[in-house]
Amino acid sequence: MSNSYTVDERLQHIAFIMDGNGRWAERRGMPRRFGHRYGAEAFRKIVKYCGDIGIKYVTVYAFSTENWSRPENEVRSIMKLLDSYLDECEKSAKDYNIKLRFIGDLSKLEPSLAAKARRLEEITQENSLTLSIAINYGGKDEIVHAFNNLAKKGKTCISSEDIASELYTAGIPDPDLIVRTAGEMRLSNFLMWQSAYSEFYFTDTLWPDMTSKDIDKAVEEFYSRQRRYGKV
Ligand code: FPP
Repeated sequence: MSNSYTVDERLQHIAFIMDGNGRWAERRGMPRRFGHRYGAEAFRKIVKYCGDIGIKYVTVYAFSTENWSRPENEVRSIMKLLDSYLDECEKSAKDYNIKLRFIGDLSKLEPSLAAKARRLEEITQENSLTLSIAINYGGKDEIVHAFNNLAKKGKTCISSEDIASELYTAGIPDPDLIVRTAGEMRLSNFLMWQSAYSEFYFTDTLWPDMTSKDIDKAVEEFYSRQRRYGKV
């Protein structure tokens, strides 16, 4: 995937709802886990391309708080893909230039996977493209977690800044653009607080089929929009 342009400060953060892996596999008569495997390949390419065009923050919805109700072998295969990706990042932390961040409640993960994720956050903190991977993530869960932290700190008069500072995404600017693949037009409990003024881009393309051209289209569409933030 090669690029011919760079984005400007208006587009710093793109978040992806990587939908359609299961359908991609089913259409080919393959088990759903193959969809996730090809989805993980598309993820690598898309993250690289976003970095190449100058995006500073990428966030992906890899596993939601609701995804635990999927068949056990599907959950296991997604966790395995994440684990292999983390191993890969650990080996090539310097070449990748990716600063990893995990958003979500990692306490429900295999302790070794959660520890690896936290270690990777440490190892990659000097890199510049911030990649947030949402695992066991839910927007409602995140807001409840933030309020509980504020309550523990004895806060009674809570500001919007207080809440933002306790979200898993604290310190990361809100997404400018949220891309959802595979034709569904909903947020599915992703970045509920942070998406208040995000632009949305929906495509019928299934996640494993996503290429740099689809990103170019989403970027083009983003720049054709006027962001008014409630003003005239
Ligand atoms: C949604 O498609 C996708 C997921 C729940 C999992 C996303 C996981 C990956 C892309 C692979 C692992 C990620 C990393 C970061 C290495 P779906 O299964 O709901 O598709 P469907 O709607 O067609 O069934």
